[in-house]
Amino acid sequence: MLTQKIGFIGTGRMGKALIEGILKKKLVPSQNLWVCDKIEGKLSFFTKYGIKTSLRIKPVVKNTEVIFIAVKPQDILQVLEDLKSGIRTSQLIVSIAAGITTSYIIKKLGKKIPVIRIMPNIALLVEEGMAGISAGKGVNLEQKRLVRKILGAVGEVIDVPESQQDAVTGLSGSGPAYIYTVIQGLIQGGVKAGLSQEAASKLAIQTALGAAKLAKESKSSLEELREAVTSPGGTTIEGLKVLEKKGLEDCLAEAVVKASRRARELRKEAN
Ligand SMILES: NC(=O)c1ccc[n+]([C@@H]2O[C@H](COP(=O)([O-])OP(=O)(O)OC[C@H]3O[C@@H](n4cnc5c(N)ncnc54)[C@H](OP(=O)(O)O)[C@@H]3O)[C@@H](O)[C@H]2O)c1
Repeated sequence: MLTQKIGFIGTGRMGKALIEGILKKKLVPSQNLWVCDKIEGKLSFFTKYGIKTSLRIKPVVKNTEVIFIAVKPQDILQVLEDLKSGIRTSQLIVSIAAGITTSYIIKKLGKKIPVIRIMPNIALLVEEGMAGISAGKGVNLEQKRLVRKILGAVGEVIDVPESQQDAVTGLSGSGPAYIYTVIQGLIQGGVKAGLSQEAASKLAIQTALGAAKLAKESKSSLEELREAVTSPGGTTIEGLKVLEKKGLEDCLAEAVVKASRRARELRKEAN
């Protein structure tokens, strides 16, 4: 178990999912966790675990060594304003906010605070998350190890230079939504081809899961895996011809690029 006292500012989808992961894996004793959100109703979920809650940021800053900021990028400036007076250089800030850089956070806090920027995704709820991690100036190895450990408990983690975090945001941060769209398309097709909605859903979701697992575990490339299930004159090749004609791969690639660009825009809007 980790011994550090850890705070969370923002307990929406991502903040709550991370805390749930920490609790599920028993990474941190619940009495060492502090959470802050703007609405009382959101905090009651945490009190039942013995987690300390507050509507104000002050007690979280005062009592913790590591502070996760899990608010929307447009709300981060206010959070940094509220952190500014109480934050100490011995503390570590971990930001999840899309597009927001470590240097922006340090500048707004006006102190040389170590900051780590992370970009996880919602699949951490089922311990299959994917996160990119970038350490800003002044972060030590122990601090980085701690954040890796937390994210590693709920999925996979890769180190990326901070300049690539917008790309991580566009790919794996937003990626679950693209995969759901692909699955929805498969379900629609299955229903059109004669299946019930229920059967088509089960077939599509398990197919996506199985294909991803095989791609992850196999030594073969994606092309080789695709070739292995595509025989000339067979059924799969007919389906693939449609995807090629309609440009599915290009569409997905463009979605990632557009989402990455949006992360950059969010950074500008936060200024
Ligand atoms: N959702 C994803 O799949 C995903 C994936 C990767 C990264 N992210 C990043 O994760 C961050 C959080 O996203 P989310 O989807 O979890 O957002 P969310 O559901 O809106 O959660 C943010 C929470 O923070 C609260 N909050 C806002 N300002 C606050 C303040 N000053 N003090 C305390 N609490 C405050 C919000 O309250 P109100 O709602 O009342 O304002 C809300 O409960 C974002 O920066 C996003 O870029 C999200």
